[in-house]
Formats: sequence, structure tokens, C-alpha cells
Amino acid sequence: MEITIVSHSLSGIFLTKLRDKNADVSNFRETIESLTTVLFVESSKSLATETIEVETPFEKTIGTKLVEDIILIPIIRAGLGMVRPILNLYPQAIVMHIGAKRDEKTLETISYYSNINERIEGNTVFLLDPMLATGGTLSFSIDEIAKFSPERINILTVICAPEGIERVSFVADNSGIPIALWTAIIDRQLDDNGYILPGLGDAGDRIFGTI
Ligand code: URA
Repeated sequence: MEITIVSHSLSGIFLTKLRDKNADVSNFRETIESLTTVLFVESSKSLATETIEVETPFEKTIGTKLVEDIILIPIIRAGLGMVRPILNLYPQAIVMHIGAKRDEKTLETISYYSNINERIEGNTVFLLDPMLATGGTLSFSIDEIAKFSPERINILTVICAPEGIERVSFVADNSGIPIALWTAIIDRQLDDNGYILPGLGDAGDRIFGTI
């Protein structure tokens, strides 16, 4: 799995805001959206396009069109906070959902909702989850999505733990599908409860104000 740590100065500034425990819910939500915009722009540089003709008010010229669908799959709940900024840039994107969470005691993945389908075949999936911690939910999601043969899977995360990267890389490299990951940073480690250190806390709680 190819991993890109997005080195854009804006991503460092946004990440610092997200880490700040004093950021309130509106600040946090807005900043996740800003950082997602940077991640999406970076990760969509090489989508397949074709040349088309377009007519300006003056004359015909050459333009660009995507040759595939973009499919966003946020992992509920925290991934939902990354959907709106991508739709703002590319409103034609299709949005499917996976609901998976960690059992807080065993840290194993529990799936409670899935709405993905054959429209995935041959198209690029953007799998959205701000925190790659143990890697359980992302690994589960990759396995589910791979069943529908996407062209590739681009994973967008804000913070990764080294433990999660290792687990997801293993699953990705054995999936038979090109999978790449973009993140703002790889943090130090997981704590005993599966939270990332130094991290930013519980991303879902901070996006939805349920702390
Ligand atoms: N999920 C979060 O929201 N935060 C973490 O630190 C780990 C998993």
C-alpha cells in the first residue's frame, strides 16, 4: 500500500487546530472539512480523465472530463464528517456507507450497517475515516469493498497509528486491488484503549458534539 503523508503547510495548520482540546464542536467540524479538502485534492491528482470539447462564449476549446464515477464510502460515524467538503468540490460523487465500530472491550470490529453495491465495479472508491487506529474497521471495509472489484481504493485519514498502518497494509497488499492511503500524519502509538497518542481524542464525539 502506497502511503502519502500530505506535507502541505495548510494540513499542518489544520491538524494543530484539531489536536487542540479547546477547539469547540463548530471549530472542530469546520477544520475536519478543511483538512479533508486538502487530502481530497492531493489524492485525486491522477484520476483518469478524457479530453472533451467545450464551447466558451467565444469559441470551441479543449476541456477535461472524468472517465469514471467517484464513490465516497464514509465509515460511520466519524467518516461522515469528511463527506460534505468532497461533495462541495465534486457534487456528482456517489455516497455509499459502511457502519463498523470497535467493541470497546475486545477492540474487535463489529459491523452494524452496510450499503454498498455493484456500482463500485471499475470505479475509484474514496474510503473515509479520520482515525486509523487499530485498523480493524478499515481492514474490514477494504475486504467488503474488494468483493465489488473497484478500480482502486484511496483511503483518506487525518491521523494514523503505526499499528493500524501495519494491519491495513497487510490486508491492502493481499486484496489484489491498488490501494493507497493519504494522511496528515502518523502518530506515535495506540494507548491501552486503542486511542491514538498524541492524537486528537475521539473524532466522532468531537465532530458530532457528543463528548
Ligand atoms: N478513533 C478515534 O476517534 N480516536 C482515536 O484516537 C482512535 C480511534
